Amino acid sequence: MLDFLNQNADPDSGKILRKVRSFVLREGRLTKGQQGAIDRLWPTLGLERGDGVIDPATLFDKPLPLVFEIGYGMGQSLAAMAQADPSLGFIGVEVHRPGVGSLLMAAEELQLSNLRSYCDDAVDILEQCIPDSSLQRVQLYFPDPWHKKKHHKRRIAQPAFVQLVKRKLKPGGVLHMATDWENYAEHMIDVMNAEAGWKNQAGDAEFSKRPSWRPETKFERRGEKLGHGVWDLLFERAD
Ligand SMILES: C[S@@+](CC[C@H](N)C(=O)[O-])C[C@H]1O[C@@H](n2cnc3c(N)ncnc32)[C@H](O)[C@@H]1O
Repeated sequence: MLDFLNQNADPDSGKILRKVRSFVLREGRLTKGQQGAIDRLWPTLGLERGDGVIDPATLFDKPLPLVFEIGYGMGQSLAAMAQADPSLGFIGVEVHRPGVGSLLMAAEELQLSNLRSYCDDAVDILEQCIPDSSLQRVQLYFPDPWHKKKHHKRRIAQPAFVQLVKRKLKPGGVLHMATDWENYAEHMIDVMNAEAGWKNQAGDAEFSKRPSWRPETKFERRGEKLGHGVWDLLFERAD
């Protein structure tokens, strides 16, 4: 868990390498339930970057098309999706341990066998643990918006990220993003339109309606109470 914490030093010079990350790690307290779920379930449902590149054929009881979700928060919507579609195998990545514990509690309660999780930086995991052309869908729901201009470099949806996602998707696979922050939605569209090899499922409309299979997320409901809109983007890998 949280292996990136040990990866900041350059092995040759010993210098601390400061990578721009899309999160600030705040280790809130885990509830007894969350800690218990991690103790019981991490050995079977947890994935570690140290185990290297996954084998999609053996990750679940049988080979399943893979859906990779980045930053699932407390995991309710991810668990609901896994329950709703057992024909897909879900890999969630969340850096916040209480969220990981909460997802595992849901997985236990719903007896999910098509769900695994990393507790780590999803960008590192994509780079180091996910084979190229292996994912059916990548989900990025309500990533931290980093409102202030001086923090925009921390936004995860950037050209290099999108190129990495494209490499990991199968041809025809989909990157599905959603945000409740208009300025971030516009930034996402600009980034996607500037990249070659994608087809926007919304065509000229740019933004898509929320697909029926995406449940509302916790963060989305919070935004709705504050009067925020919601923007969904669905782009297919076209080459
Ligand atoms: C604003 S919250 C949204 C959570 C959830 N998707 C929802 O809609 O309720 C963003 C989440 O992404 C996580 N996160 C941000 N960058 C991440 C990264 N590079 N790898 C893994 N998790 C990340 C944060 O810890 C946080 O839980």
